[in-house]
Amino acid sequence: MPLTMIKTVEWTPEGVRMIDQRLLPTEEKYLMFRSCEEVADAIKQMIVRGAPAIGVSAAMGLALGLQQAVATTVIDLQDDFNYMCDVMAATRPTAVNLFWAIERMREAFRRAAAETQDVEEIKQRLVDEAQAIFKEDIEANRALGRFGGELLPDGATVLTHCNAGALATAGDYGTALGVIRGARDAGKRIAVIADETRPFLQGARLTAWELHKDEIPVTLITDNMAGHVMKQGKVDAVVVGADRIAANGDTANKIGTYMVAVLAKQHDIPFYVAAPISTIDLSIPDGAHIPIEERDTREVTHIREQRLAPEGIEVHNPAFDVTPNELVAAIITDKGVARAPYTSSLRRLFEQTGRAEEQTA
Ligand code: MRU
Repeated sequence: MPLTMIKTVEWTPEGVRMIDQRLLPTEEKYLMFRSCEEVADAIKQMIVRGAPAIGVSAAMGLALGLQQAVATTVIDLQDDFNYMCDVMAATRPTAVNLFWAIERMREAFRRAAAETQDVEEIKQRLVDEAQAIFKEDIEANRALGRFGGELLPDGATVLTHCNAGALATAGDYGTALGVIRGARDAGKRIAVIADETRPFLQGARLTAWELHKDEIPVTLITDNMAGHVMKQGKVDAVVVGADRIAANGDTANKIGTYMVAVLAKQHDIPFYVAAPISTIDLSIPDGAHIPIEERDTREVTHIREQRLAPEGIEVHNPAFDVTPNELVAAIITDKGVARAPYTSSLRRLFEQTGRAEEQTA
């Protein structure tokens, strides 16, 4: 069991409560968001970030917005709901969990509206759905942690990039860090090397913080040290999370992940991707179809208020890159471990959920 259950995002009677991830690790501050628009803004501002956490927060934001709607008929409530879904969908483009969660909430609305005309009853069902999404995310990460934990040998040192931990999910285990926690909870001794992950520093600020809190040995390096530590034989496996996995296994994750995967190949180190089924997008054939978010150039030119680069220069700030499937040793999901060829292995995992047809439709 983790020593501290990190509460990334929570449903409360007053609104959606989140830890402000922009301030970590120096400040542990919780903020309350009291409307759908406020939750959408928190996703945009990266107060909450990480693909599954974005999905869970979006679902809660929609449930919150609906609760506050003044509509008295199902038709008017549906109009309000459609508007809220559009607001939520316009926050961040890459993590498919956002669109997955919106679609699940839409489906829950359709089901409820087919069964009742009671507006209050529909609102309550949507709150229940958001809470179910939250609970399922924690369970999914526990399950993938168990599957992935089996792949790591006792005494292994694992390199990870970005933060795919409790802070990137509903809380508790995380995905890539869920695999590490799964191995630890199975009695294995695991150490972690965390890439700092420029420019937003999710590795230095968040992964180092949560592993340290959880008493899992962690060593922080800058991104450009990864090749060197691999060459020195200090890395036994790489485990990263994902923002969107295409049908052929091509994987979008935090910028710099591709570089780590190429290095792992060069040094014959297994490169694993850990993600719940909700991160897999069977509707796109390959990674070329994944939209890559471009973020504010200030993230590159500044650290907090401190300017690092000269004024007026050209800056490029893609937030994600795509790792081609041939560099991925396995994709660890809550339904089991998929290996190449991914087009068939991922589809088989989906068939267990009964959602394969719906995804490719
Ligand atoms: O920009 P971020 O911080 O939302 O990006 C997060 C990542 O790239 C994570 O590795 C990914 O979402 C997986 S989180 C379990």
